[in-house]
Amino acid sequence: MSAKIIDGKAIAEQMRTEIKTQAQELKSKHGITPGLAVVLVGEDPASQVYVRMKGKACAEAEFFSDEHKLPAETSEADLLELVAKLNADDKIHGILVQLPLPKRIDESKVLLAIDPAKDVDGFHPTNVGKMMVGQETFLPCTPHGVVQMLIRSGVEIPGKHVVIVGRSNIVGRPLMNMLSQKNDRANATVTCVHTRTRNMTEITRQADILIAAAGRPKMVTADMVKDGVVVIDVGVNRVDDPTAKRGYRLVGDVDFEAVKEKAAAISPVPGGVGPMTITMLLYNTITSVKTKLGIE
Ligand code: GUN
Repeated sequence: MSAKIIDGKAIAEQMRTEIKTQAQELKSKHGITPGLAVVLVGEDPASQVYVRMKGKACAEAEFFSDEHKLPAETSEADLLELVAKLNADDKIHGILVQLPLPKRIDESKVLLAIDPAKDVDGFHPTNVGKMMVGQETFLPCTPHGVVQMLIRSGVEIPGKHVVIVGRSNIVGRPLMNMLSQKNDRANATVTCVHTRTRNMTEITRQADILIAAAGRPKMVTADMVKDGVVVIDVGVNRVDDPTAKRGYRLVGDVDFEAVKEKAAAISPVPGGVGPMTITMLLYNTITSVKTKLGIE
């Protein structure tokens, strides 16, 4: 058996078309262009790539994109001042501060300074709390993208055993929460395994749906999954490859070639979760505008 490919790129493109139509409607009916501010501190190469992709996605969806590239030595006070300015700016409906921040800057202080109504990353503790108790709020983009990929490729979630590999604040932990919520799009039995888990393979082999978000190249091997599993690979790891033009290539957290022989469906890297994350960011920015206007 070879798995069905869960094509994140195609799902993302379909959603971006819907989002662009909504942006055009907000403009024609309400005279508002959705505005997204992206703040990057320093020169982390991966972050630079993400920020560039966000700018491109904004342009394609006809959003207003406001990019702030600050030097690595920017002070916490200066960054907080910029966040305050963006909070007060009517043209801005979403604010994203790219993580990780330089070590000198207190990340939690910066996230706390973002107006929860513009927190399109869903990282502000107020929004994390709302998500936790199942209230409507901005859902963090990568986990929300994973859930959309499952739903839009027709994967039944209710009653299934979902095993999540990794417990980060950005992916693993919010996914545990979202998929265990009491609603028709979730209702899963969720287990999270991590670096301190004993007998990891015993647990991952029970997964009906396995989500890999550990940040370790090819750590999920074929012996760790059962036949017919659905696999979503959140990992984006750079590995050296002298034959590649850039000197490296991207691999996921899953040994794709081996696992696809056992899986019923699997998402690739690249072309899986990556394009979905930015799509959900655009989606949250549209939601922010609609909430501000008090429309559906
Ligand atoms: N760094 C890695 N993923 C993310 C994300 O989803 N949002 C932000 N702000 N930074 C990140």
